[in-house]
Amino acid sequence: MTPSAYRIEPLQRQHDRKSFSCGSAELDRYLAQQARQAAGKHVAASFVLVDSKSATGLGYYTLSAAVLNADELPPDLAKKLPRYGQLPVTLLGRLAVDQRLRARGMGEFLLLDALHRSLEAAAGIAAMAVVVDAKDESAASFYRHFSFASLQKKPARLFLPMKSVALLFA
Ligand SMILES: CC(C)(COP(=O)(O)OP(=O)(O)OC[C@H]1O[C@@H](n2cnc3c(N)ncnc32)[C@H](O)[C@@H]1OP(=O)(O)O)[C@@H](O)C(=O)NCCC(=O)NCCS
Repeated sequence: MTPSAYRIEPLQRQHDRKSFSCGSAELDRYLAQQARQAAGKHVAASFVLVDSKSATGLGYYTLSAAVLNADELPPDLAKKLPRYGQLPVTLLGRLAVDQRLRARGMGEFLLLDALHRSLEAAAGIAAMAVVVDAKDESAASFYRHFSFASLQKKPARLFLPMKSVALLFA
């Protein structure tokens, strides 16, 4: 099936989350056991990848509001911004694709959907960047592939300015 045979929708009770397996037990467990409760408590919103035939979760990502200390940004970017100590961002907390669907463009499909959703939300509640916490070097390299850059002092935390996200969809 091509990516067009798949869609991404807000996590609902009817989604099967038990069979999801992405190679990270923590990310599998989160979807199976914690994601619904986190969404219900407005801590993290989850969005799942499903195909046209079933409600089986084949991938997912989460989004939350967050703040960033301005001194974590590269100085050349920070000096162009208003001098607030903390800045609003959108946190892409988790993103994973089931192992059965790897290397078929689904990670990119999920990431672009997350960025587009973040951009739309930022028109109503400002966020100056999308931030991710890469769980390992492979995850960091995935995000760098899409132009995310490491924050100062915290190389595992990467960001993409919302201006760049806007250009992506312009
Ligand atoms: C990282 C992950 C989401 C990638 O998903 P995927 O569906 O296999 O990736 P895609 O097929 O969409 O790849 C899209 C592009 O990213 C590149 N890419 C994929 N994984 C990459 C990696 N680890 N490092 C660098 N580039 C990567 C692909 O080569 C492809 O590039 P191209 O478009 O230029 O050909 C997936 O491997 C995964 O779920 N890993 C376990 C969970 C995880 O690490 N999540 C991220 C942090 S929470």
